[in-house]
Amino acid sequence: MNAMVLLSVASAFFMGTNQEVVQSFNNKCDNFFFQNTEPAGFENNYEYICQVYNNQNRYATLFDQQNLIPVYSAYIYQDNNCTNRMDSWKLEPQLADSSWPKEMMTIIELVNKTKLPLETVEPKIEATQAVREDYVNSGFDIGHLNPVCHQNGADNKTATCTFTNAAPMPHGFNVRWFHQYENLIRKNLSQQCHQGSVFIVTGTIPDSTQKIKNRVSIPSVVWSAMCCQMNNGSYLSIAAYGINTDTGTIDTTLTVAQLNIYLSRAFGSTVSIFNSTLC
Ligand SMILES: *[C@@H]1O[C@H](CO)[C@@H](O)[C@H](O)[C@H]1NC(C)=O
Ligand SMILES: *[C@@H]1O[C@H](CO)[C@@H](O)[C@H](O)[C@H]1NC(C)=O
Ligand SMILES: *[C@@H]1O[C@H](CO)[C@@H](O)[C@H](O)[C@H]1NC(C)=O
Ligand SMILES: *[C@@H]1O[C@H](CO)[C@@H](O)[C@H](O)[C@H]1NC(C)=O
Ligand SMILES: *[C@@H]1O[C@H](CO)[C@@H](O)[C@H](O)[C@H]1NC(C)=O
Ligand SMILES: *[C@@H]1O[C@H](CO)[C@@H](O)[C@H](O)[C@H]1NC(C)=O
Repeated sequence: MNAMVLLSVASAFFMGTNQEVVQSFNNKCDNFFFQNTEPAGFENNYEYICQVYNNQNRYATLFDQQNLIPVYSAYIYQDNNCTNRMDSWKLEPQLADSSWPKEMMTIIELVNKTKLPLETVEPKIEATQAVREDYVNSGFDIGHLNPVCHQNGADNKTATCTFTNAAPMPHGFNVRWFHQYENLIRKNLSQQCHQGSVFIVTGTIPDSTQKIKNRVSIPSVVWSAMCCQMNNGSYLSIAAYGINTDTGTIDTTLTVAQLNIYLSRAFGSTVSIFNSTLC
């Protein structure tokens, strides 16, 4: 049991309830949420990750350690030309050992940083998150939640390539999500919004009955919600809901309220992504 789990068990005990958010993003990376407010309704022993790369917070991830995939990543969309980068996939040392760095890195970099042998580092990482071997020959893409083409600048793009920001997606779904949802935001909707005000939360509905390598959940659904302030001061929001199978359909015409209803049903609690009447 790691320190974060111990902490949450202890807090839940002292508060006499497990309904309280006993750990949260704690102002460390609240700026990635609309009005600095994280989604309501997900409190369930998840891990709260401020995704740090090259000494800067890049976005926030709520991570489901039982299923080894993120419940969501929350980020600010940046205008960009969608130049893809080939990056090595990174991992999250702090999940494996709370005394390890709070910054994403490759396993090689972590071995170097901790000065521990690979045979010591690797099992601790594998116990707490997905790794490259999970995806190799699995038939699934490493599907980004915060995608490269919604970020600008080399470091912001690089920071999306970390396993805690990804879930298994069939290739066909991954491609359609890119064309039908990510491009809709990039090419059509973001133009109507103030740069720097486009808040996006993209997540999954984990399915513990379907896993690759008997470890990493293949989510049944990939969803997303966007809220921004338009150039005329009004707020614009949309939501999307995709069935994560090779031929699964993607609906990009939902309201955030409709998505909240779907997610509330799936998570068995009252989910409110933006928790604001403006979206
Ligand atoms: C995209 O590319 C065009 C043409 O090269 C350039 O003028 C523009 O500034 C770029 N936009 C971004 C957001 O990088
Ligand atoms: C290993 O760590 C040292 C500093 O401790 C650093 O100078 C070097 O670049 C690192 N090498 C790699 C491959 O990360
Ligand atoms: C990188 O992301 C941060 C946080 O979202 C943002 O403030 C910054 O402007 C981005 N950098 C570039 C080059 O777009
Ligand atoms: C997005 O923009 C393109 C080009 O401006 C347009 O052809 C397309 O119909 C738009 N799609 C939606 C869903 O608005
Ligand atoms: C801003 O523009 C949107 C669509 O372009 C429109 O629906 C909305 O009413 C406008 N708001 C104001 C305050 O003019
Ligand atoms: C914010 O979340 C709380 C807790 O789920 C809920 O009671 C409240 O109605 C939400 N507010 C809005 C504006 O969605």
